[in-house]
Amino acid sequence: MNHTEERLPGRKDRCNLTDYEQERRTFDWQEIEKTFSWHETGKVNIAYESIDRHALSDKGDKIALRYSDPTRQSSYTFEEMRKKTNQAGQVFRKLGLKKGDRLFVFMPRSPECYFALLGAIKIGAIVGPLFEAFMETAVRDRLQDSGAAAIVTTPELLHRVPVSELPELKHVILVGEDLKLEDHQTDLIAEMSQASEKLEIEWVDREDGMLLHYTSGSTGKPKGVYHVHNAMIQHYYTGKIVLDLQEEDVYWCTADPGWVTGTSYGIFAPWLNGVTNVVRGGRFSPQDWYDTLQSQEITVWYSAPTAFRMLMGAGNDIVSQYDLSKVRHILSVGEPLNPEVIRWGMQVYKQRIHDTWWMTETGAQLICNYPSMDMKPGSMGKPIPGVEAAIIDDQGNELPPYRMGNLAIRTPWPSMMRKIWNNPGKYQEYFYLSGWYISGDSAYQDEEGYFFFQGRIDDVINTSGERVGPFEVESKLVEHPAIAEAGVIGKPDPVRGEIIKAFISLRKGYEPSEELIQEIRAFVKEGLSAHAAPREIEFKEKLPKTRSGKIMRRVLKAWELDLPTGDLSTIED
Ligand code: WTA
Repeated sequence: MNHTEERLPGRKDRCNLTDYEQERRTFDWQEIEKTFSWHETGKVNIAYESIDRHALSDKGDKIALRYSDPTRQSSYTFEEMRKKTNQAGQVFRKLGLKKGDRLFVFMPRSPECYFALLGAIKIGAIVGPLFEAFMETAVRDRLQDSGAAAIVTTPELLHRVPVSELPELKHVILVGEDLKLEDHQTDLIAEMSQASEKLEIEWVDREDGMLLHYTSGSTGKPKGVYHVHNAMIQHYYTGKIVLDLQEEDVYWCTADPGWVTGTSYGIFAPWLNGVTNVVRGGRFSPQDWYDTLQSQEITVWYSAPTAFRMLMGAGNDIVSQYDLSKVRHILSVGEPLNPEVIRWGMQVYKQRIHDTWWMTETGAQLICNYPSMDMKPGSMGKPIPGVEAAIIDDQGNELPPYRMGNLAIRTPWPSMMRKIWNNPGKYQEYFYLSGWYISGDSAYQDEEGYFFFQGRIDDVINTSGERVGPFEVESKLVEHPAIAEAGVIGKPDPVRGEIIKAFISLRKGYEPSEELIQEIRAFVKEGLSAHAAPREIEFKEKLPKTRSGKIMRRVLKAWELDLPTGDLSTIED
């Protein structure tokens, strides 16, 4: 256990949530709903609430989006965002796309990426954001599983969309310059410039779908986590009390919308709160990031432990070259936030980094540190008001303080996923103990109710805050002609949290070599995605398997970490 009694006091000035315990006692989600117009009309659309509601109020001229990358800088007010997203919606509707259709957005961050995401939601479509690093197999699996009708992408990424294998895909909508269009292709920017700035928004039920985020489990292909418009209640509320967003803030979430943090907290939470949202394209570099914080005058900054660890690695000298005095609130998500990183943050940023815990499936933050609350470095904090979290054993009994068990959340909460696309069985697996959502994480609680993360219970790998399913990587590996069998595990790593390590047994006629290792890595990189490629590969004569033929990752992990292998009674031989 990493239990710590170190305490960093909360602050009382200028925060939206001043008394956590008091708020917990009196909290009522229905009061939060009253923020929204649909509370009376029953008609909802999360894109309308994020953009149009502000555009049509006295905030029309306020900057909603400030985009920058090394080649481009542009800003859009809420009113301009309203028009752009209307035009994108017009283009989609003219193609015949409609409520419930699955539309994917597969492109690097750019203003058009956000117009497309929100425009699609405005016409009632269910949007599937795809990270730009995905390669053909990953793209095909997701489009096939969801029966996607359209994809918005760029000419550069188009070759990774296997159109001929996707009979349900009717439209390829391209974002680029000087496009030469083929059949079933549309030029988004050209069509938008012709389209009306007015759009009849598709008003939907709060339980209607808006987002499909594919994420990895320990078995099977990635699962399509389905979120509904109702999630806005929690996006809005956590934006207020966890991100602590206030009128004058300039907010920067470093996540790509291909991951859930980049939608829930890169789109919805800031815009539902009517705040200026900074999007930075391009790759990570400490200089670039500090420059963004300084030149954009960021006040609230949401990032990930891997990034903080890389910034820590870049040293303190570089920090002193920038003026970061506007930054007033820093948050982290995605993997455990090391106390050491928090201590470093106190030293160089002169403030706390607030850890938050949640998952793709939970749709929004659930366990967090709040500006006004005392922080215990190493703890993810306490559940947001309106949510009950507990540590339970496999029978559903709640465990006393300091006992490690399943981190579970009492169902339901507003932003909870409503299904796994096409897979009711997988969905049910999360709820096998009645009344609880079982996260798959293990944790313990101290006697003051702070939660401490301990690890994953399944074999899901968390590398640089990205979830990678071992099965998906293993399946790709065995497609390589040299590979007979593959087992994949997460190996602890000081910067990335975990790295992917593959154990491989070769087919007859192949010999281990450095060349082969490089070739295998490139094979996964090109077939699946760069972040899924094993950083380490070790060849074995044979892999440990159960009698039913399942690779025993637990044994691989024990080998790797020099731990006892535990019960081997089910091993093959
Ligand atoms: C891990 C990201 C420790 C955890 C929003 C969870 C964390 C998985 C934390 C979800 C945290 C997330 N401390 N671990 N503060 N936040 N995790 O779906 O294992 O990409 O189950 O969602 O990341 O990852 P996902």
